[in-house]
Amino acid sequence: MTPLAHALQQETPSGVPDFLPINGTDHVELFVGNAKQSAYYYQAAFGYNLVAYAGLETGQKEFASYVLQQDKIRLVLTTPLNPESAINQHLVQHGDGVKVLALWVDDARRSFEETVKRGAKPAMEPTVLRDEHGEVVVSAIHTYGQTIHKFVERKNYNGAFLPGYQPKSSNFEIKPVGLKYIDHCVGNVELGDMNKWVQFYEDVMGFKLLVTFDDNDISTEYTALMSKVVSNGNGYIKFPINEPAKGRKKSQIEEYIDFYRGAGVQHIAVATDDIIFTVSELRRRGVEFLYVPETYYDDLFERVGTINEDVETLKKLNILVDRDDEGYLLQLFTKPVQDRPTVFFEIIQRCGAKSFGKGNFKALFESIEREQELRGTL
Ligand code: FE2
Repeated sequence: MTPLAHALQQETPSGVPDFLPINGTDHVELFVGNAKQSAYYYQAAFGYNLVAYAGLETGQKEFASYVLQQDKIRLVLTTPLNPESAINQHLVQHGDGVKVLALWVDDARRSFEETVKRGAKPAMEPTVLRDEHGEVVVSAIHTYGQTIHKFVERKNYNGAFLPGYQPKSSNFEIKPVGLKYIDHCVGNVELGDMNKWVQFYEDVMGFKLLVTFDDNDISTEYTALMSKVVSNGNGYIKFPINEPAKGRKKSQIEEYIDFYRGAGVQHIAVATDDIIFTVSELRRRGVEFLYVPETYYDDLFERVGTINEDVETLKKLNILVDRDDEGYLLQLFTKPVQDRPTVFFEIIQRCGAKSFGKGNFKALFESIEREQELRGTL
């Protein structure tokens, strides 16, 4: 049995109820400099539908917020409307980035109490939000950097998103690209902090350690990182945590931390059932991906064995493949989606594999280093 399968089996030991049951990711909220234009990018390029909005027209005077949805994935793009808003401080410091990883729970009060009791730093006391569609209970705790976890209890609500938001549709035809759900969200933390945050997820949120990668797994001549993956009881939430490891030159994690000015979300992995379609569409619409050299595909068969996809097609689209004991996976990483080299997206298709593409890290790092070289930050 792989360590991952073993860990999954132990996740819900009989007789020990999960003190923080989570139904899935509720939404990911990004603070951005211009939410209106970012919302257009995610609609036109990534195929998200606009579903809800808050702003001046809805009586919201502090910020404007666009809620975008594709299947189970919900992204919220928020921008401040005046210089007094606290959102400005986040933007000045971090640029566009992920502020909230929101978790869908059945009891937001209890989620808050149980985690705060175990040492979480409160970010928002349980708050009831109401409108004509019912009520939502929201609470929040701090995690790494200035990122927060919101607990969203929406069992008594049938509105578009949250009270205060009004339904709003895209004003042009949206063509989805087949994105289904959030597979995992990765955090970058400062050198020496990885274990502290793994422990936070274990102690405060009851998550379990799934996998560890060290610099022997993930290093090139120049760069290295350490990574540990934690997951909640039912396995729906997976948070890999990276920290830089010493290399000859600046690692991509350090570059992120320099530009983000601290710990934060590095990438959001979104799952598809047809990565060839998804990536073809995204490329056609101008989404930029990391380049992987053609030589990557030379020994592909020896590395991953038989796969259902045509290797020439994968090569043309630059899609990466990795295998573990349970199957294989196909993945590809976008370039950062804002000018600072910080947050990016991963497109992933799982064909049995439950791991995270360890076999691709080296090829990928070499690719990222080429980009760093171009940016003069290696
Ligand atoms: Fe990933």
